[in-house]
Amino acid sequence: MNNTVKVDLGKDSYDIIFDDNFVESAIALVAISSKCMFITQEVIYKEFEDKFSVLKSLPNVEFHFIDQGEEAKSIETIVEICDKMTAMQYDRSSTIFAVGGGVVGDTAGFVASIFMRGINYIQYPTTLLAMIDSSIGGKTGVNLKSGKNLIGRIHQPKAVIIDTSFLSTLPEREINASLAEAIKYGFIYDRDLFNYIVENMSDILNNKNDTILKKIILRSCQIKSEVVSQDVDENDLRMILNFGHTIGHALEGYFQYKTLLHGEAILYGMKCALYLSHTTGGLNKKDYNKGLKALSAFTLPSIDIKDKAEIIEFVKRDKKFRESQIKFVLIPEIGKATVSKNITLNHIEESLGVL
Ligand SMILES: NC(=O)c1ccc[n+]([C@@H]2O[C@H](COP(=O)([O-])OP(=O)(O)OC[C@H]3O[C@@H](n4cnc5c(N)ncnc54)[C@H](O)[C@@H]3O)[C@@H](O)[C@H]2O)c1
Repeated sequence: MNNTVKVDLGKDSYDIIFDDNFVESAIALVAISSKCMFITQEVIYKEFEDKFSVLKSLPNVEFHFIDQGEEAKSIETIVEICDKMTAMQYDRSSTIFAVGGGVVGDTAGFVASIFMRGINYIQYPTTLLAMIDSSIGGKTGVNLKSGKNLIGRIHQPKAVIIDTSFLSTLPEREINASLAEAIKYGFIYDRDLFNYIVENMSDILNNKNDTILKKIILRSCQIKSEVVSQDVDENDLRMILNFGHTIGHALEGYFQYKTLLHGEAILYGMKCALYLSHTTGGLNKKDYNKGLKALSAFTLPSIDIKDKAEIIEFVKRDKKFRESQIKFVLIPEIGKATVSKNITLNHIEESLGVL
């Protein structure tokens, strides 16, 4: 199996490297860097203390822990890390190592994008979502009280290094939710990947089958990398990655980011997007039913939508909606996506009926 995927962005190109030896690979990178700041979370450090302690003993390595959860993705966290790096005389030649899930990656990447007008950073994703999605593509940023990811920059890492042994301590609910993004790649880009996930779902969820997971991660990375490489500035092509996200984001907001994990909201959002693909986007009945059946196999917290109009208010507040009209991702068949400008708020409200 080819264990490197290239993200082809001209002078900003980098590799996604599959390497099951986090410590060795990090030591090699630390050896060629000046000062190194490892940004992670205490919970991750404790789970893998034997590995981290080796790195902590290196003379040019410092650790910074951020809190868990979306609240940690804040301007206050950014200022705290920048202040610490300034006090410790970090400079333009310093490197940031982001070791964590999407919260760590987005935050550490944003620090790297602005500290001294931009320094190098390496992504070591430790969640399935970060391995297949958030660590790739260079989107960094933090939340404002008024909304998620409202401040950010595109700043590409120097490398993404995937050690799947980090997944051993990830709760089952997180694995389940992250598979949403993998099955999304199947829906929008690769029917074979979709079928592979459906066939192996119970094996992945029951015993985190490493061989199957690695195959899914590799193919997901290839797809994200292909899409990002063709559309780094997030114009039309990259938009297909938002399949299920318009309604998914609205559901996250409606339930105040408490009831649903991001991936779980996207799974619900994809049910609605499948419905709209079938009713207005040419998706035939057979693929529609196949898609719905696949999504129904995921364990999801039950939700009770009391006020559909309020969900529509969240859709209207969405960053992408505010920019212009709704650009809604539909699939005319499993494995292909299109961006439609014909979906109205009424259509979206109607689609909530499938939940
Ligand atoms: N930049 C992008 O392109 C992009 C894409 C998708 C999502 N995101 C962002 O990613 C974030 C979600 O990422 P996430 O799902 O990885 O969540 P997360 O980073 O919050 O991690 C989930 C939980 O798992 C814990 N954890 C991490 N690694 C662990 C491990 N190996 N073992 C045990 N516990 C571990 C974390 O502390 C956290 O409590 C959101 O903020 C979202 O906006 C960014």
